[in-house]
Amino acid sequence: MTIAYLNGEFLPLADAKIPVLDRGFIFGDGIYEVIPVYHGKLFQAQEHLQRLENSLEKINLVNPYARATWLELINTLIAHNQGGSQIIYVQVTRGVAKRQHHFPENTTPTVLMTSSPFTEPNKVTEGYHVITRPDIRWLNCDIKSIALLGNVLLRQEAIANQAKETILIRDGYLTEGAATNVFVVLQGIVFTPPKNNLILPGITRDVLVKVLHDANIPCQETAVSEAQLRTADEIWLTSTSLEVAPITRLDNQIVGTGKVGAVWSTAWDLLQRYKQQILQAN
Ligand code: PDD
Repeated sequence: MTIAYLNGEFLPLADAKIPVLDRGFIFGDGIYEVIPVYHGKLFQAQEHLQRLENSLEKINLVNPYARATWLELINTLIAHNQGGSQIIYVQVTRGVAKRQHHFPENTTPTVLMTSSPFTEPNKVTEGYHVITRPDIRWLNCDIKSIALLGNVLLRQEAIANQAKETILIRDGYLTEGAATNVFVVLQGIVFTPPKNNLILPGITRDVLVKVLHDANIPCQETAVSEAQLRTADEIWLTSTSLEVAPITRLDNQIVGTGKVGAVWSTAWDLLQRYKQQILQAN
């Protein structure tokens, strides 16, 4: 039975209920995190909790728990769900209040945590297909907001076009995917857009930038134009669940040789090695 955490209580997921006037439901007024667990062990927990704290601060929501409490609660949730590999979803909303746009006074935030099984990705031999669309989202994409309508509509376009993801373009430049960060390789140099208000600062992105630097593979966090994206030798997606995935078709055009890239293969191996080291040390 899947166990969830809701406002101080561990309970079966089916019994976790939230009042309809919760501001998460009414306004999408809340933030979330998605944290991977490999064989019972959290990966990059401090980084995910730091981003959770940043998101809360950016929407003026007081963090309901200290970092140590978050860790304790999450580890208890992992144990309740039989250890193993899981994805932990954490959501905090501004709580239940009379329906009015401005912040309510003295409302307790709602905290929900759920766990779903995580099938770790394998090193693929075939790349994925992606499409591009204009980035129609708001200008605070660095907040991991639960208000995901833009992302939902954009990801749905990928599915409708038999693609894995929709890569987003704003003012002629690559931002990110609907639920992923994007890397491109041009003449042996890896590029990924810089962290700013236009993208989510992905935890997998940061790990990948670090392992590439450590391996002396040139990697630049600089703006990537649509023209660079369209002429890239390799394109990769990163996210907690995908890790780093190769793209071999962009809007039905072949990327590079049309095969998974050599730099991607090295990046995949470096990421796996780093993950093993961190998990063994935990
Ligand atoms: N999505 N960009 C966006 C818009 C995302 O939603 C995500 C993650 C990422 C990658 O971030 P990370 O490497 O920290 O997972 C980038 C999660 C997995 C989700 O919404 O389920």
